[in-house]
Amino acid sequence: MTLSGKRILLIVGGGIAAYKALDLIRRLRERGASVRAVMTAAAGEFVTALSVGTLTADRVFSDLFDRDDEHDVGHIRLSREADLIVVAPATADLMAKLANGLVNDLASAVLLATDKPVLMAPAMNPKMWNHPATRRNRAALVKDGVSFVGPNRGEMAESGEAGEGRMAEPLEIVAAIETALSPQSGPLAGKKIIVTSGPTHEPIDPVRYIANRSSGKQGHAIAAALAALGADVRLVSGPVNLADPKDVKATHVETAREMMRAVEAELPADAAVFVAAVADWRSDSEAGAKIKKVAGEGPPVLKMVENPDILATIGRHARRPYLVVGFAAETNDLIANAQAKLKRKGADFIVANDVSAEGGAMGGDRNRVRIVSKTGVEEWPDMPKDEVAKRLADLIAARLVTITV
Ligand code: CTP
Repeated sequence: MTLSGKRILLIVGGGIAAYKALDLIRRLRERGASVRAVMTAAAGEFVTALSVGTLTADRVFSDLFDRDDEHDVGHIRLSREADLIVVAPATADLMAKLANGLVNDLASAVLLATDKPVLMAPAMNPKMWNHPATRRNRAALVKDGVSFVGPNRGEMAESGEAGEGRMAEPLEIVAAIETALSPQSGPLAGKKIIVTSGPTHEPIDPVRYIANRSSGKQGHAIAAALAALGADVRLVSGPVNLADPKDVKATHVETAREMMRAVEAELPADAAVFVAAVADWRSDSEAGAKIKKVAGEGPPVLKMVENPDILATIGRHARRPYLVVGFAAETNDLIANAQAKLKRKGADFIVANDVSAEGGAMGGDRNRVRIVSKTGVEEWPDMPKDEVAKRLADLIAARLVTITV
């Protein structure tokens, strides 16, 4: 009964994913939580108040101007009597309202009136999720302290379209609720740390892209190790075949430019660790349609342009985190190159690995690194990536803890 005695106020937004909210209620109650539900008018188009109320074993709230509600359990009381507010599915509309402080129904009134933590599980069409307005709203909400779980990639129920926008599964939401409700402990408690991981995919046309062999194993292991020390970790990951590490808030991106935006949206932060193998270049124009082979014309020529350098941008940013850590994969002159990178990119230290030696660092499970800083070079023996991650997390904790005492 991990959630024993916890009071969850669940706001059900209008979307096909609302059916998953029913399962979520069951899962939460199985774990000992009590659940009260607020439904938006649109939610009522997808699930009935009867089924929601049967599962919560409570009445369902939906009307801002219901006299009985206002005299009995108004929006202030609803939010006061909860430990956490969960919005699932969080529609583009609910996100936009809270990001802009708009209130026109009970759900939005509760969200604006609360001083309790809020967790959103967005669900929408991938185009809506990727729209600049939704990206802006999400960034604003994150800045205001709202946590997110999902959305995941997959096929959309209504259109069959693939992309990011599917609501996280009920058990993933339960895990995020447990994280949101567990007081953080450990040497990095209260520290916000950004980690980039994985490769980037740079599109050539709708079916082709430029990528690299990064697996994301090292970056994800670092994110997990920092979270295990209590840090509030914001992982920005390129496309990988790895699950989001436990207790980490993840944003999924494809291109270097998306990664840059996602990292900037997480500022300010106490530290940032740039592990991602960001593509240095992208095709200067993404063809809108598949490039066809045309007899007699020969292969197309790709003109490349430089991608933003995320580490270098953040290393010199007006809101630069206190500690900035970069990685360097080199085949020759390891130390000299790492030292030059340290300076050029404004990092505090560079984790350098010689990719020519074992040839196993990219995609493999082990890593042999050197920590290059202004004050010198520290050599670490060959060890599993998880071990590198733990030692690096300890090093970051030591550096961040000294500044607070
Ligand atoms: N990096 C980044 N954004 C980029 C390129 C790299 O944030 N567009 C970060 C990586 O995450 C890593 C560090 O910079 O922490 C080193 O990347 P690397 O590719 O080794 O350096 P380059 O700048 O590409 O230098 P070179 O090609 O000379 O090795």
